[in-house]
Amino acid sequence: MSSRTDYIAVFDSGVGGISVLRELVKLMPQERYLYFGDSANAPYGTRPTSEVRALTLAAAERLMARGCKALVVACNTATAAAIIDLRAKYPDRIIIGIEPALKVAADHFPGGEVGVMATPVTLREEKFDVLLHRFTDACTVHKIPAPGLVELVESGLAVSEDAEELLRPLLAPYRDRLDALVLGCTHYPFAAPVIGKLLGGHTALLDGGPGTARQTKRRLEAEGLLFDGPGELLIENSSGSQEMIELCRKLLVEH
Ligand code: DGL
Repeated sequence: MSSRTDYIAVFDSGVGGISVLRELVKLMPQERYLYFGDSANAPYGTRPTSEVRALTLAAAERLMARGCKALVVACNTATAAAIIDLRAKYPDRIIIGIEPALKVAADHFPGGEVGVMATPVTLREEKFDVLLHRFTDACTVHKIPAPGLVELVESGLAVSEDAEELLRPLLAPYRDRLDALVLGCTHYPFAAPVIGKLLGGHTALLDGGPGTARQTKRRLEAEGLLFDGPGELLIENSSGSQEMIELCRKLLVEH
């Protein structure tokens, strides 16, 4: 049985989920959060799906053992690979999984040109195909895998010359052409200044963080599990490195 004082656990392959955590904290500052980033095993997005699933289930087990009322999978890749297994394994907990904010893009730009930038795993999984089919009539969708960007964000180089160099050839064909770019990986919002600049400044950058936070609140509210404080924030990382924890704290307040 979950209790109001249990943690909201937030999980990502590394520091990316901080872009979701910041939305959760903004919306529900009085909650107790336990953030776990699996940086020792990042990136997930270029691994076989079976490995991502196994890593995600192992992380969830670790978090569930600490007592949590909700698990927010703040990683599009882990959601694509493992959300069905997580819900089957923990039927009595609230399990929320982030997914690319294609609906937001289709609602705001009907008939528009929309890019979805995400990891190779997210873009190749069936879950994304199902999402895509819901919106193919509403807008034109371009899949844009961006291998290498997660590693730069993990190194604290989200906004850097290196990031600009990596992204320039990838985004050049879309410059001044997209109405919206969906940032379908939770690491990418930290590189938004570089992405926006390379796209020419007229493209709306959308991510699933705010929607995921609202959905988490709705579910907690419906089950009478909202907590009224005092709030708490624990950040843990599988790398065991204090530097990664500091990077998380920096990203949390910076953006
Ligand atoms: N942050 C993760 C996501 O939202 C992926 C990062 C990775 O490849 O490890 O997809």
